[in-house]
Amino acid sequence: MKNNYHNIAVIPGDLNGVTVTDAALKLSDAISYKLTKPIKHTRFGYNADYFLEHDIKELGPNELDELRKYDQIFLGAIGDPTKIKPGVLEVGILLKLRQAFDQYVNLRPVVLPEGVPSPIVGKTSKDINFEICRENSEGLYVAKGRIENQGTEDEVGIQEMHCSYRGVKRLAQYAEERARLRKKGDKPTLHFVFKTNVLTYAAAPWQRVFDEYKNKRDIIAKYMHIDNFLMQMILNPSQFDVVLTENMFGDIATDAGAVIQGGIGSAVSGNINPTGEFPSMFEPIHGTAPDKWYEMDGNGEYISGTFLPEKIQLIKPEAAFLSYAMMLEQMGEIKAAESVKEAALQNIRDPNYQTKKLDELVEQSCIYVRN
Ligand code: IPM
Ligand code: MN
Repeated sequence: MKNNYHNIAVIPGDLNGVTVTDAALKLSDAISYKLTKPIKHTRFGYNADYFLEHDIKELGPNELDELRKYDQIFLGAIGDPTKIKPGVLEVGILLKLRQAFDQYVNLRPVVLPEGVPSPIVGKTSKDINFEICRENSEGLYVAKGRIENQGTEDEVGIQEMHCSYRGVKRLAQYAEERARLRKKGDKPTLHFVFKTNVLTYAAAPWQRVFDEYKNKRDIIAKYMHIDNFLMQMILNPSQFDVVLTENMFGDIATDAGAVIQGGIGSAVSGNINPTGEFPSMFEPIHGTAPDKWYEMDGNGEYISGTFLPEKIQLIKPEAAFLSYAMMLEQMGEIKAAESVKEAALQNIRDPNYQTKKLDELVEQSCIYVRN
């Protein structure tokens, strides 16, 4: 049954995840007058402390059943290496939710905002404007494999890449829809990115779906190897509209994408279940940035207790704003989404952006959306 409000689960997470989440929720309050129906946020403390307290390695059926009730999930960032070894929360929360809620698309726009300089000399916002649809449920991240002859000279680590026809096809359908919405060129353009020349088994479904798309008349479908794609992203990004690729390729390519769009500070990630059967989840991709919070000892380990509260004011909230905007868009709150997005971009374009304190940035964004 649909509610007369948007029912949003919020997982602030750890370290700057909490800070940027609070900032995004303030902006959400400021924009509430533009919504078609109100938003109710419910916070869930799934983070390093929660895992320690409950002595768990991943979210279990209780937590999943709880989260399942919500329309969408907003996630700050998770991970605190002074409490839990890196990797545990990433797998136990992020990958777990992506799998459990069949969030099979990871939507990552690579859009250089107008007025923001690109690290690629000579490129502007006109050149860098595309979206990567990363396959988010299979590929090399199915966590299947084995270690053979462990501890011997013949030790082999085997990691399996699963690419299903169904999986590639549903991703392509989503990518096609995005491309139609974007209206970038005369016809929507899809780039299928894989490594068919080497990964011949996993490539079969990619090739098969690509072949089906190649013959469509109202769409342009092209194929590119991942290595070439990374090169083309830098040399000639304007050729791309919507790109779809395997899970790990997408993971890597979107970090490079974050750089060319002006930095990780504006890069966002929508973990999307396009069927609406389960909640989708939206997050900034910057992570918890422990290097900004803790001092390091001589062995490269973070020292707990070295956290300095005044550093909070150095955190930038824009990626969280932009992922919140992406969530609003998903909820059909287009006007509010536009306004939140523009507020974030106004901050980034501000000539004094780098030296502005967190509170100032949040405040100026709130003022922007209210006007
Ligand atoms: C990302 C992250 C995650 C991923 C990790 C933390 C599991 O790198 O969202 O890109 O690889 O998907
Ligand atoms: Mn990544």
